[in-house]
Amino acid sequence: MTANPVLELRNAGKVYGAGATLVTALHGASLSIAPGELVAVRGASGSGKSTLLHLAGGLDAPSTGDVLVEGRSLSGLSRKELARLRRRSVGYVFQDLNLVPSLTAAENIALPRELDGARAAEARTEALAALEEIGLREVADRFPDEMSGGQQQRVAIARALVGPRRLVLADEPTGALDSETGEGVLRMLRARCNAGAACLLVTHEPRHSAWADRVVFISDGAIVDETTASAPVAVDLGALT
Ligand SMILES: Nc1ncnc2c1ncn2[C@@H]1O[C@H](COP(=O)(O)OP(=O)(O)OP(=O)(O)O)[C@@H](O)[C@H]1O
Ligand SMILES: [Mg+2]
Repeated sequence: MTANPVLELRNAGKVYGAGATLVTALHGASLSIAPGELVAVRGASGSGKSTLLHLAGGLDAPSTGDVLVEGRSLSGLSRKELARLRRRSVGYVFQDLNLVPSLTAAENIALPRELDGARAAEARTEALAALEEIGLREVADRFPDEMSGGQQQRVAIARALVGPRRLVLADEPTGALDSETGEGVLRMLRARCNAGAACLLVTHEPRHSAWADRVVFISDGAIVDETTASAPVAVDLGALT
């Protein structure tokens, strides 16, 4: 028996603007991610990767089709219910990070937990543990503008992973990181999936796809190909010599 998917996109499409400025960012995309699965999304700039993630996380409503998280259609939820589901079930690493500038690293990480009703002391303890895990305990009390780009990126990742999130959506979470630190982030996402979460990861790095169970390719707003990890992978002969 296969487990119910954590995320399901059913023919989800997205159109921005209207008339002469109309852009079809995503054509009916269908995708299903089971607990424990890490799915990588690749495609050229402007192909619709972030749009796909926005729809998956309920940050934006699809123009057509439907998005289900843990079996619930997002279109049937009130704004309040949707906000609650996003806080509780969805961890999101934004392409532009979105850290709150007036909060320290630890406060940024604790914020979603506190909004969800956790006690402040408990949320702080969790935040410090998350910082420890990513090797950034020392920046706990620094504000975003007192951290490097890579440190901010890891704080954004920690924020997406605290608490019992079952769906983790990460939009280029390693862009500002050196390759070793980037691999560390991938290892964390993989561990979270192995513990039962579903992850959708946008990445430009072909070697990051090795951590994924499947790779989905997007071109001009359409899913054009899907490969599984067991499928033959093109070998870069140059890397072997
Ligand atoms: N808010 C918006 N209003 C109008 N058009 C938009 C909006 N957001 C995205 N688009 C357009 O939709 C298309 C897909 O954009 P999207 O951000 O999903 O691409 P992407 O694959 O994430 O690109 P990148 O790799 O550069 O981050 C692009 O043509 C983009 O210009
Ligand atoms: Mg993008």
